[in-house]
Amino acid sequence: MGNKETVIVLDFGGQYNQLIARRVRECNVYCEILPYTVDIQKIKDLSPKGIIFTGGPNSVYDESSPHYSDEIFKLGIPILGICYGCQLMAYALGGVVTPAADNSSSEYGKTDTKYNTDDVLFQGLPDSGVSWMSHRDYISQVPEGFSVTATTAVCPTAAMSCPEKKFYGVQFHPEVNHTDHGKLMLKSFLYNVCGCKGEWKMENFIDTTVRQLKEQIGNKGVVLGLSGGVDSSVAAALLSKAVGKQLTCVFVDQGLMRKDEGDYVEETFTKLFDMNFVRINCQDDFLLKLKGVVEPEEKRKIIGTEFYKVFWDKIRESYGSGFFAQGTIYPDRIESGKGDAAKIKTHHNQVGIPSDINFESVIEPLKDLFKDEVREVGEKLGLPHELVWRQPFPGPGLGVRVIGEVTADKVRILQEADAILRDEMDKCGYAEQMSQFFAVLPGVKTVGVMGDARTYDELVAIRAVTTDDFMTADWAKIPYEILGRVSNRIINEVEHVNRVVYDITSKPPGTVEWE
Ligand code: XMP
Repeated sequence: MGNKETVIVLDFGGQYNQLIARRVRECNVYCEILPYTVDIQKIKDLSPKGIIFTGGPNSVYDESSPHYSDEIFKLGIPILGICYGCQLMAYALGGVVTPAADNSSSEYGKTDTKYNTDDVLFQGLPDSGVSWMSHRDYISQVPEGFSVTATTAVCPTAAMSCPEKKFYGVQFHPEVNHTDHGKLMLKSFLYNVCGCKGEWKMENFIDTTVRQLKEQIGNKGVVLGLSGGVDSSVAAALLSKAVGKQLTCVFVDQGLMRKDEGDYVEETFTKLFDMNFVRINCQDDFLLKLKGVVEPEEKRKIIGTEFYKVFWDKIRESYGSGFFAQGTIYPDRIESGKGDAAKIKTHHNQVGIPSDINFESVIEPLKDLFKDEVREVGEKLGLPHELVWRQPFPGPGLGVRVIGEVTADKVRILQEADAILRDEMDKCGYAEQMSQFFAVLPGVKTVGVMGDARTYDELVAIRAVTTDDFMTADWAKIPYEILGRVSNRIINEVEHVNRVVYDITSKPPGTVEWE
């Protein structure tokens, strides 16, 4: 969206920086995260309504700690400093930040805090409450022109402000849910200090993006690799709304998806959306390539290489002109403030186009959205709820859930067992509480007894986790009755399975997937 009101989140490497940006967006204000190494000219070019300095892991006195040009304080733009960002503001403007000599001045976690409710950040809120702290150094003297606007038992400056220059600082983290009314404090900064109007709404995003896509694509073609995952599905729905049949979605079915999933994706997009849908069925080719391969990384490599070979061959054959679209989202391309700021991380969503294919350009219609915003757009465009809220699914699919060699029989057993698990979890309402759950076929045979006969058959493992970010995860405490029903049904309904086990390993030390 051109000329949209923008706030910049200047990233000094703290752990909650994406959360700050999401909170700002939840207040209907568009914001971008920029690393502290960004040139000030780029900030000027964006004409932001406000700037937020994030937290950071350092002390302003560390030699290696991130700083920014003092020129930023002369732009006449409102600034809110959070935690390290607040200390940096104090330090840069002539206040005193006192290094923590011992632990008596540090605060971690929920902290009782007193607020001056005459200050614009805290207006209309109670004069005390819990804030979330995480600091060692503290501001012992605020810069000239500032006054202290919040305190705690050990922190003389839990917040400070200089309304005349529109500079505000909080030692605590308003973006974290544990801070009472933290979002209202951020909202007050955005609306009452920066003068934002709150135009960042997903309805507006859809209208504007559709208009821009129409203009950009004109009467040419656009091709999108559709995996059935949330991001590529929402990108497909958006492009379909913009250019209808000029869009071709290429869906590679490598036979390693969950039961009936290929058909579900095809039906959804051919029935609900106007587009050309091309499904490439290449299950047999993939199985042939995987024959005899047992090593997980080798399987991943083969599946990835074969996937792109099939995909690009199809594009070369029929669709190698016009535009190429992909479902890149904002977290895929945020530059981090943690030292390697110049490098944008490579992600599986950002695909390298072979040099012999000459698209006019790459279109990434979701590149400014966070995942929750992508989901909101998906719902508004009429994608089915279960697709929009789909759990993550690994690119190599069931190839990494069949442990060891992948064969057609093993994939079928796993698909059947996994479908029963999903059905039972849906029926009892537990599915929505899980971050991810699935069945695994470890490739282990055990002895059992069915009827009066001895069996020697496959073992199925159930994996279910809860997590916020998939970096760490807890094994899910699913009630025994549900596990019991799943186990009974799998053993009774899936041929060649005689035992079911439940994985009670958290991450770390385990990973979510078994391979
Ligand atoms: P791990 O097993 O590393 O999984 O704890 C964390 C999350 O990442 C997903 N995952 C993958 N996603 N390609 C993907 O696109 C992969 O190769 C892959 N391996 C794991 C996994 O499902 C979980 O959500």
